[in-house]
Amino acid sequence: MRLQNRKEMNLSKIDELLEKVSNLYAEKEQDIEELRVKLLGKKGEITALFDEFRTVAPEYKREFGQKLNVLKNAALSKIEELKAKAEERGSSEKASFDLTKPGDKMDMGSRHPISITRQEILSIFKKFGYSVAEGPEIEDDWHVFGALNFPPEHPARDMQDTFFINNQSDNNILLRTHTSSVQVRTMESMGLPIRVVCPGRVFRNEAISARAHCIFHQVEGLYIDKNVSFADLKQAVLLFAQEMFGADTQIRMRPSYFPFTEPSAEVDVSCNICKGKGCNICKGTGWLEIMGCGMVDPNVLKASGIDPEVYSGFAFGMGIERIAMLKWQVKDLRHYFENDVRFLKEFETVI
Ligand code: DAH
Repeated sequence: MRLQNRKEMNLSKIDELLEKVSNLYAEKEQDIEELRVKLLGKKGEITALFDEFRTVAPEYKREFGQKLNVLKNAALSKIEELKAKAEERGSSEKASFDLTKPGDKMDMGSRHPISITRQEILSIFKKFGYSVAEGPEIEDDWHVFGALNFPPEHPARDMQDTFFINNQSDNNILLRTHTSSVQVRTMESMGLPIRVVCPGRVFRNEAISARAHCIFHQVEGLYIDKNVSFADLKQAVLLFAQEMFGADTQIRMRPSYFPFTEPSAEVDVSCNICKGKGCNICKGTGWLEIMGCGMVDPNVLKASGIDPEVYSGFAFGMGIERIAMLKWQVKDLRHYFENDVRFLKEFETVI
């Protein structure tokens, strides 16, 4: 009675599993393997029936065994069939891959607007016969101030708030506040005549805002030879402005003061947005300030061992951020340092 019951119970279980096997479906190889394990693995449902088979009374073994084998073979061939289909699908997917198709578009980096502008300024002056000179960012007082005619304690030093470097043995070490220091280094080391442009990073102890930053970039220019005049300076600046901002650009010079030049001037260019009519970029004046300049002060020449009776020269200095702001109407200096890709991408197509 007990065996009879067992036999009936297992037969219906076999039928149930046969039905299940015929409906098996999976596409991924991993899923097919999972199905196989569930049915035929060590703890699989079909394997469990084989374990039970060992306890079946001998007179039922034949019928029961045959059914069980039918079920096992059905499961095996179903799994094989699914695997074959998956393989076929995989290879047809591979075959349909078009090797001549263009690749996916990759996002490329682009040059930073400050390096684009720096490069443009330098290449204009290179065309005029200037060479490029660079100097250290960590400087001494002499190269940043002393040799440039800033006497100790002179209030002109307050024009540039300085980061001093704590150094017990030498408290004259600082981060350069302008690239005019490279003027001095060039005069010390280069034979005359001199015609150089000096790009670089400068540092000032200023609060960061839309119009000021504690790190920015400048290009300094220096020309020293016999008989260099203010007219030469004006011509050099005019040609630069026209190359940088367009052939119809005009300049004007306003008297100014710098310790290292005499006379000194500030240079404005006609506004390239409103063409001098007055707009909100030039605050209605029609002019935009681009640089400081002047004739190298005789004291500066003397400090570097150049005889001011024989030689004269001019110098100029401009902020790269400022030039770039005017060229592309960037209204906030901080954009240059934050490196937001959406901002940088706007310059992708420039040069
Ligand atoms: N060094 C000045 C500054 O950082 C800029 C400057 C003005 C440089 C006049 C010059 C010059 O060579 O002649 O504010």
